[in-house]
Amino acid sequence: MEIYVQKERGVFALSTPKMSYLMKVDEEGRLVHLYWGAPVKDITPAGIASRRDFPYSDHGGELYRPEYRAQDPRDFDPPALSIRYPDGVRNTVLRYRSYSISDGALTIVLSDDIMKISVELLYQGWGDLDLITRSVTIRNEGEAPVVLETVRSATLHLPGHLHYRLTHFAGKWGAEYQRQRIMLTQSQVVLESHRGVSASHQSVPFFALDPMGRTTETAGEVYFGALHWSGDFELIAYQNPDGLVGVTGGIGTYDTFVELEPQETFTAPGLTFGYTGHGFGEMSRILYDWQYDFLLPRSKAYSPRPVIYNSWYPFEFDLHEETLLKVIEQAADIGAELFVVDDGWMKGRDCDRRGLGDWYLDEERFPHGFRPLIEACHAHGMKFGLWVEPEMVNPDSNLYRAHPDWVLHDEGRKPWLSRNQLVLNLAREDVCQFAIDMLDRLLAEYELDYLKWDMNRYFGETGWPGASSKEIGELRIRFIQNLYRIWDHLNKVAPHILFENCAGGGGRADFGMVPYCDRINRSDNADPVDLMLIHEGFTTLFPPKTAGGAGNISPSPNGINGRTLPLQYRIDWGMTGSMSIGIDLLTADSEELIRLKEAVRRFCELRPLMNNSYVYRIASAYEGPCTVLEYVDREGKGAVVFAFGHGLHFRQYLPLFRLRGLEPHGRYEDEDGNIFEGETLMNWGVSISMAGDYASHVLVFRKVG
Ligand code: DGJ
Repeated sequence: MEIYVQKERGVFALSTPKMSYLMKVDEEGRLVHLYWGAPVKDITPAGIASRRDFPYSDHGGELYRPEYRAQDPRDFDPPALSIRYPDGVRNTVLRYRSYSISDGALTIVLSDDIMKISVELLYQGWGDLDLITRSVTIRNEGEAPVVLETVRSATLHLPGHLHYRLTHFAGKWGAEYQRQRIMLTQSQVVLESHRGVSASHQSVPFFALDPMGRTTETAGEVYFGALHWSGDFELIAYQNPDGLVGVTGGIGTYDTFVELEPQETFTAPGLTFGYTGHGFGEMSRILYDWQYDFLLPRSKAYSPRPVIYNSWYPFEFDLHEETLLKVIEQAADIGAELFVVDDGWMKGRDCDRRGLGDWYLDEERFPHGFRPLIEACHAHGMKFGLWVEPEMVNPDSNLYRAHPDWVLHDEGRKPWLSRNQLVLNLAREDVCQFAIDMLDRLLAEYELDYLKWDMNRYFGETGWPGASSKEIGELRIRFIQNLYRIWDHLNKVAPHILFENCAGGGGRADFGMVPYCDRINRSDNADPVDLMLIHEGFTTLFPPKTAGGAGNISPSPNGINGRTLPLQYRIDWGMTGSMSIGIDLLTADSEELIRLKEAVRRFCELRPLMNNSYVYRIASAYEGPCTVLEYVDREGKGAVVFAFGHGLHFRQYLPLFRLRGLEPHGRYEDEDGNIFEGETLMNWGVSISMAGDYASHVLVFRKVG
């Protein structure tokens, strides 16, 4: 990101290769937004002056576009900052104070010198990507405490008096990441969650706006943004009475406020925004580049994810040394590279009613500890991983009996049990330390290669006896800050370990977690026909190799919707994410085992082409009865195309599917030895026949010249 400042005119211009972002200090000393979008290079005084297309006056306020909107008496759009002052004053009127540039980032300081509040706006770029992250730090410069009732990360304004369509992702357990689209009207659309987790069990902290709703996968403008936050959030997209469209968002305001003592500061989480003129496909590629090159845990950003065998779907809580030793043999035989012991290994944990919180192995079911399992895995060259849920406890556990005060609850009221568990108050220092110590112990004791962190219920009660109003107001924030602290610790002490971020499936599939985890559980629903919608949503934001799940090759009939699907369809689908097998290998027949072995071999063969790839959505499950996803290697080594039919009617002649992202004059070889020019595949297309109920195909095009 490049930063230009015209000091004398108070103009700030941020530019990335294909995006400009302009602000200016106006005659009243307010920092106003000028422009966000495709490059605008002329920021000469004349250029800026001639483009003052939103003359605002004092009479209404709707045309005023503050760069960061405080609760200002002249402004009616949703504020980013709303403060309760000790004397009852509610308004904050921000004026420009100063700016500084450091490490390639711009900081602009605004302040209300009467109310003694300063606001530092931070703008940070990401190499050459068309992305900028904003965050804000509020400082109480007064002599009495103030209450931040709303403290959002940014105010963003969209250009022009255009009509915009909002694309976002929402869902629920087992049905995460579903694409939603609406035209904005004169209204406020609030994307939010106050479940304690932010992502797709309700709504994902992400938005994309395209002018007039005309943008496609390959063409048109998209203005998009995502929050770096895994807790309660709100993102508000609005169109005001004068037709101006904006977005504001950050930490949620439900039950949440921050008390700032004199000289104290509070920094809101980042909100990253970006722009492309080349459709939703390009938006996804920018987000992927961001993750591959900056966000993903560094030592593992580009490395392949192993093929996993996970105990959850086939065995649930019915785990025993003897059974698992047999499964390990079979898993190794079909070629799995990592064996994960999921929920059910702890003392007394033979169902979801007990044992959660007691992070010790059940000696009755594992009389020799984990050692025999670990040794069996290692003897077969397989890695070993374990499941944990550190934020939770069953009332029937030694942890709860020892520390009933550690859970979130209202004194005197029967606590709300969800999945028979209660939420530990991770905002407490002792609970946070307990989790760190417990995890350190497990990592050391079992020399783990993989840790799956789960979180299986939402917040209910958010109090505890003796809690101050400040503690309760800040609970939902401190909880997530401590969650990040623990994940940061894990990454520091065990950088070699692969970490899976799971929250009852995709409950925490958000950008706040990306820097800490190597794999993200998308959903507990592994039925390919449902997962097609979920995966398309998920891979709009996240690279496919992070697309986790306990068994991406899933059992049939499916446990959630009861659908029965052919094994080959489930296998081909399982290859589209980070491969994991969730089929009972002890009851599988020999034919099934042979096909699973072949599936693992095939996946490992194709993995180098898919490991660091982009996903092109050639045909979308949202739009028709077949899904075609093309995984194009980022370095241009070739492409793997997955095609799935689902519910085709009549005798349909499918169109030729035109591939994307290849080199027009590159030469690509398919698996039958045919050679095609990139432009033939992209312009003429490939023919894929999808007769039958559940047909699936995997096509490979390797670049040979
Ligand atoms: C929910 C997860 O998404 C599953 O993969 C599994 O780990 C269960 N929890 C275990 O309780």
